[in-house]
Amino acid sequence: MAAVFVTGGAGFIGSALVRQLLAESPYDIVNIDKLTYAGNPESLDGCVADPRYHFSRTDICDRAALDALFAQHRPCGVIHLAAESHVDRSIHSAGEFIQTNIVGTYTLLEAARAYWERLAEPARDAFRFHHVSTDEVFGSLGREGRFAETTAYDPRSPYSASKASSDHLVRAWHHTYGLPIVVSNCSNNYGPRQFPEKLIPLMILNAVAGKPLPIYGTGENVRDWLYVDDHARALHLVFERGAVGSTYCIGGNAEHTNLAVVDTLCGILDELHPRAGGGSYREQKVFVADRPGHDLRYAIDAGKITQKLGWSPRESFMSGLRRTVAWYLANHDWVAHVRNGEYRRWLETHYGSHP
Ligand SMILES: NC(=O)c1ccc[n+]([C@@H]2O[C@H](COP(=O)([O-])OP(=O)(O)OC[C@H]3O[C@@H](n4cnc5c(N)ncnc54)[C@H](O)[C@@H]3O)[C@@H](O)[C@H]2O)c1
Repeated sequence: MAAVFVTGGAGFIGSALVRQLLAESPYDIVNIDKLTYAGNPESLDGCVADPRYHFSRTDICDRAALDALFAQHRPCGVIHLAAESHVDRSIHSAGEFIQTNIVGTYTLLEAARAYWERLAEPARDAFRFHHVSTDEVFGSLGREGRFAETTAYDPRSPYSASKASSDHLVRAWHHTYGLPIVVSNCSNNYGPRQFPEKLIPLMILNAVAGKPLPIYGTGENVRDWLYVDDHARALHLVFERGAVGSTYCIGGNAEHTNLAVVDTLCGILDELHPRAGGGSYREQKVFVADRPGHDLRYAIDAGKITQKLGWSPRESFMSGLRRTVAWYLANHDWVAHVRNGEYRRWLETHYGSHP
C-alpha cells in the first residue's frame, strides 16, 4: 500500500496521528522525526511492531536525507507536523523556531516538489502536502468574535510568527509551482503524552507533586481546547478529502480561561486522586508575572470542516480532561522517563547521540 510521510510523528499530536492512521487507514506510515527533547519514541510503543510502521531519525532541514526518503518510500503524501512548538521557549530562544519551522518547512517543500514534479499521473494529481498549523497565526481576539479561514494573519510571538511564515511558504508553493497542498489551523490541543511543559500536564504533575500551580497574570486568557484524538481524526479527513489549496480551521468549541482550566482540573484530581493532607488542589494555585505579549483570547469557528467534511469533536472538555488526568495518573513511567534523563539515555542507545 502507498506510504504517507508523517513529520514530527514522535511528538504529542504526531504520535496520536500515527496511531490513528495505523488503526484506521491502509497506508504505510513513515515517521520522520529528529527526536528533539519533545520527540519521544515511547509514545509510539504500540506501533513499533506493526510492519506498516517505519521510523527515520531525520532533521527536516536535511535535504539530502529527505530526498533519499522520498526515493526509497515513494509516498502518496506528506502530513507535516515537525516543529518547535512551545511559545515560552520561543520567547527565550527563537533561533530553533526559525530554523525548524521556517527553514525546515522550506526544505521539506523543496524535497516534496522535486519528487512530485517527476511523478506520472494519476499519482501526481493524487499527491497531497498537508501542513499542520495553529490558530495562533491569527493573533489575539477581544472578548467577541472567532477566527475562521478568512481571518487575516497577525502573529505576535516568535512561535506564531514562525508558523505563519511556514503557512505562507506552503501556500506560495501551491500558487507558484502547483504543489497540491492543504493547510489546517487548530486550537490548543490537550490529552495523553503531551510534554509536561504545556499547561495541562504541567498542572496535573505539579498538583500531585504538591508543588505550586503557576497561573500567568490573572488567569483570564482564553483558549479553545481540543482533545488530541479529535484533532488526529480531523487531520486524517483533511489529508484525504480536503480540497487542494484550501485551509480548514479546527477547534473544540470549548473556550475556557486558564483559571477555569486549572480549577476544573483540580476538581477532577480531588475526585480521582484526593490530596494526602486533605483539602483541594485549588489551594496550590499561585499567580505569577504574565507572559510577555500574552494573547488575550483565541477562539475558532470550525463551521467549514464540519459542513464540508462532516467532522466534529467527540470528546467534551470535561470528558477529555478526565481521560487526560486519568492517563497521567496511570503512566508514571512515561512521565518519569521524559523528566529524569532515562529517556535521553534510551535515545542514545537506540539512535546514537542526542542533538
Ligand atoms: N500542541 C498544540 O496545541 C498545537 C495546536 C495547533 C497546531 N499545532 C502544531 O502541530 C504540530 C505538532 O505539535 P505538537 O504539540 O505535537 O508538538 P511537539 O513539540 O510535541 O512535537 C514536535 C515533534 O517535531 C519533532 N521535530 C522538531 N524539530 C524537528 C526537525 N528539525 N526535524 C524533524 N523533527 C523535528 C520533535 O522531535 C517532536 O517529535 C506543530 O506543527 C504545531 O505547530 C500544535
